[in-house]
Amino acid sequence: MNNGNIVEIKNLEKSYDKGRIKALNGIDLEIGKGEFVSIIGPSGSGKSTLLNMIGALDTADAGSINVAGNDLRKMKDLSAFRSQKMGFIFQLHNLIPNLTVLENVLIPMYGTGRKNNQMIDRAMEVLKYVKLQDKVSRKPTELSGGERQRVAIARALANQPPIILADEPTGSLDSKNGEMILQRLKELHEKENVTLIMVTHDMKVASMAERTIEVLDGEIQT
Ligand SMILES: Nc1ncnc2c1ncn2[C@@H]1O[C@H](COP(=O)(O)OP(=O)(O)O)[C@@H](O)[C@H]1O
Ligand SMILES: [Mg+2]
Repeated sequence: MNNGNIVEIKNLEKSYDKGRIKALNGIDLEIGKGEFVSIIGPSGSGKSTLLNMIGALDTADAGSINVAGNDLRKMKDLSAFRSQKMGFIFQLHNLIPNLTVLENVLIPMYGTGRKNNQMIDRAMEVLKYVKLQDKVSRKPTELSGGERQRVAIARALANQPPIILADEPTGSLDSKNGEMILQRLKELHEKENVTLIMVTHDMKVASMAERTIEVLDGEIQT
């Protein structure tokens, strides 16, 4: 592992449906600490599969993934690893609908050893950062799409992870809200030196990153 890298992937393969669908076909990829990269490609090209693998949400058929110095094949407690190292901003549906905004942001902090009042202070801090301090008692269904996506950002930031993974973070938003989400993400990368890995099928969104990685049929295009 090169010390300047936070992600190193070698010859990664993943198939679904008993090998009938090859989602990733020998991916080699290195991402530097503090880098902002976008992963672009058409629908079905393997972008989300690749992001899920980096996030230790799914396991590989072959190849290796090293994240923040850890070989994911050898990790025992993947859920602790995820909550310490990774913030996830996925599509809108993954907020818990019957919990309030505040409760949704508290979730990743459980089990991290913080006291209740520290957790609440941190949740309020990140909710303020995304300008939702006035809506902490609402349920996700009582928010607009843009506001919900800001809750997802606040939740991803709760544990101050060094890596943020975003899958189509602006996918279902109008351009004004999409712009705002992207600005917040870019700011995090610039000011907090967070490594930001963003999947999108939108060339304009992808161009905000420092580097664009193109995936086609489960392979990286060079
Ligand atoms: N859980 C799954 N079961 C079966 N096939 C899947 C599953 N997830 C993804 N696929 C298939 O793997 C390929 C890559 O999917 P995905 O990574 O979601 O692409 P993208 O995010 O680029 O649209 C597609 O052919 C998709 O249908
Ligand atoms: Mg996808």
